[in-house]
Amino acid sequence: FLIITLSVCDSMSDIKNNISMFSGFYKKTVDERINILKEYANLTDEDISILKSTGSLAMETSNRMVENCIGNIHIPLGLATNFKINGKYYVVPMAIEEPSVIAAASKAAKLTLPSGFKVEADEPVMRGQIQIMNTQKNAEILIDAHESEIEARMKEYAKGMEKYGGGYKRYLVRRAEYKPDILLFEFFVNVSNAMGANTINTIAEKIAPYLEEITGGKVRLRILTNLSTERMVNVRATWKKDVIGVDGVNGVYDGYIFALSDIYRATTNNKGIMNGIDAVALATGNDWRAIEAGAHAYASLSGRYKPLAKYKINENGDLEGYLAMPLAVATVGGATSTLKTAKLSRKILGVTSSKELAMVMSAVGLANNFAALYALSTEGIQRGHMKLHSRNIAVMAGAKTPDEIDNVSRLLNQRRNYSVEFAKSILEEIRAEQRAKHKQEME
Ligand code: HMG
Repeated sequence: FLIITLSVCDSMSDIKNNISMFSGFYKKTVDERINILKEYANLTDEDISILKSTGSLAMETSNRMVENCIGNIHIPLGLATNFKINGKYYVVPMAIEEPSVIAAASKAAKLTLPSGFKVEADEPVMRGQIQIMNTQKNAEILIDAHESEIEARMKEYAKGMEKYGGGYKRYLVRRAEYKPDILLFEFFVNVSNAMGANTINTIAEKIAPYLEEITGGKVRLRILTNLSTERMVNVRATWKKDVIGVDGVNGVYDGYIFALSDIYRATTNNKGIMNGIDAVALATGNDWRAIEAGAHAYASLSGRYKPLAKYKINENGDLEGYLAMPLAVATVGGATSTLKTAKLSRKILGVTSSKELAMVMSAVGLANNFAALYALSTEGIQRGHMKLHSRNIAVMAGAKTPDEIDNVSRLLNQRRNYSVEFAKSILEEIRAEQRAKHKQEME
């Protein structure tokens, strides 16, 4: 009993210490925070220099962007090549920590040439939702009776968007699917090149008191939805049997049917699509959590979670791929404007609107899906993936110089063994050879 009491006391005092150490953390400067952390987590000078190596994102900027900021995290930025979309060529910046995704997108895009991808995208219309509780029974009729005043107010609230070609579109009223006592007032605004969250949320908060007045209800949530079904993008591409082989066509198609028939496979299949889309989102400073949420909700809109991309074998025996999904992305506002790398990525891409960016992202998503299915259904994913990952394994095993990394990676690929232990033994052999050579030269 004594031991238990003591250990409870110990953990209570730990909690107290921890809480007091970090109390008001947000009011400190970044340097002060790092000093607290140094004591808390026994940080070394090297750890601290990692935190302070901010790259192109100045610490003052990061500190304004997030709370309790202590540094920046760096993710590789690579370039996918070979993308021809609606007749225009693109090189696509992708920020991702996983090897083979960029190579896979580039390879799949190359295999669509000379035709490339055909994409159509909706106007950038976002939906706001207002939850109204305890309304009078005839709330819908009351809202209808005030239609012109509601429309006038909404137009006014969304006026700022008009100079960018956007503005208020319409509203609708419905009952929540599983709880009809919740009345939903939903409205649609063309948010132009923005993602739209701020615009929609501001409008929702402005109109809410008037809706309470009309319906006699109580407004609760006022927020945009990330299931942006009014902002869809549709991309298609053909992979010819003469280019990928009959087995390639059938293999990708069989892989698609597997995803269509099994939710465990569909999930991984869609992860492969998001590999590409998230990487472009991250490179261009877009909200990938919103994109992810929308994509997966859309994949289950029919009541069953499905693969986002579809494939068919056409009358010529070629493979046609289609991807349709909501994509709410921005070329202005938020992190797209604050992050220098996001601006640079847009410059490299050469996109001029959120719609064009969404089109490029969808093509990358379809390309990544095709590449994964093509590899999985033929040679397997590991050869290509590990071929590219082998350099990481070499570093993990302790290879230091570019020569050591290249040589260990080459031998791992040759012998098709990718364990770190094996890499260590190769590195040891290489170093032993080097020592022997050096000794010989000295003699
Ligand atoms: P390969 O056959 O060795 O490529 O494929 P290649 O030598 O024929 O080259 C063709 C083109 O691919 C090149 O054209 C490049 O564009 C590109 P070129 O420039 O020579 O005219 N390419 C590269 N680009 C950059 N760096 C490279 C590189 N190599 C080729 N090193 C490849 C190799 C990895 C592309 C192929 O094996 C592949 O597509 N594998 C699939 C990899 C993949 O999907 N990775 C995603 C990670 S796994 C995952 O998370 C998703 C998953 O679970 C999803 C699912 O289950 O559906 C798999």
